[in-house]
Amino acid sequence: MTSPLAGRELLVVTGKGGVGKSTLAAVLARALAARGRRALVLEVDPRETQHVLLDTAPSDGEILPAGDDVWLQNLRPRDEIEALVRRRIPIALVARAVAASPVFHHFVESAPGLKELAVLGHALRVVRGEIGPGVDTVVLDAPATGHGVSLLAAPLLVAEVLGNGPVAQLAREIAAFVAAGDRCGVVVATLAEEMPVQETLELAEMLATRVGRPPDLVAVNALYPEWPRRRPPGPGDALDLWRQRRAVNDEELTRLRRHWRGAVAELPLIAADAGPALVETLVAALAPALAAEGSA
Ligand SMILES: Nc1ncnc2c1ncn2[C@@H]1O[C@H](COP(=O)(O)OP(=O)(O)O)[C@@H](O)[C@H]1O
Ligand SMILES: [Mg+2]
Repeated sequence: MTSPLAGRELLVVTGKGGVGKSTLAAVLARALAARGRRALVLEVDPRETQHVLLDTAPSDGEILPAGDDVWLQNLRPRDEIEALVRRRIPIALVARAVAASPVFHHFVESAPGLKELAVLGHALRVVRGEIGPGVDTVVLDAPATGHGVSLLAAPLLVAEVLGNGPVAQLAREIAAFVAAGDRCGVVVATLAEEMPVQETLELAEMLATRVGRPPDLVAVNALYPEWPRRRPPGPGDALDLWRQRRAVNDEELTRLRRHWRGAVAELPLIAADAGPALVETLVAALAPALAAEGSA
């Protein structure tokens, strides 16, 4: 099944820390908004950084507007689990007592997949319009690589472990949402360097085997500009650094494309700090990948 990424309800941005995941999530949201889609960036990181990229106040758990057709929310998974318990246990007093108990907190911290389920469940409620301003797409700025796989594998895991009951039912529903190639998309952020490319290939493999769906797009971030070949660097020329870095980028892009047959987007290294100008500059580089047919 193929459908453009721009039409999906959930885009999960994953990849190793520091490669530009959060930047890419912000860029995706702005690029979607430019196409008339209402996008919410869901940040799952207690160290809030998205508000700097999206030029708004820290979310502090709330859904905040961040310019035309873009919203931001920093999500605390534990709050989501408590909300889930409150919804499933109708007597408020009992629900509060359960959520306050140390046993409950221990359960939340140790139960595999529960936090991840809560995050995806929240995203599903947002795109259904049960929460928020009526959003077409949630862009999830997911935790780093290993967690990206466990995030997407969590609904299947929880459904399997619990077998029956309301939470297992919810888990199955979310697993179906994540598996649907026309509803959910997975974007992996990386750099054209040896380790990040290696990890991206491993991540793509893990997503295919453990979640049953490879990524839809690999976004290769922060590429050095092409080296102008007419300009040979002299010995000790500081500009030779540029030539060398670009040569590594070329080599690793070639290696990536040799082993990864899916879609690749290339994003340039921009001389700007984390902020709206950086995001705006990268939107044009990513726009074609959003419109292209997906590979999932
Ligand atoms: N294309 C780019 N050009 C220049 N700087 C970038 C680019 N992409 C990301 N950065 C910078 O790299 C750092 C890490 O990016 P970030 O999006 O926070 O990564 P992650 O969320 O994966 O940890 C930030 O300082 C960010 O401003
Ligand atoms: Mg980040």
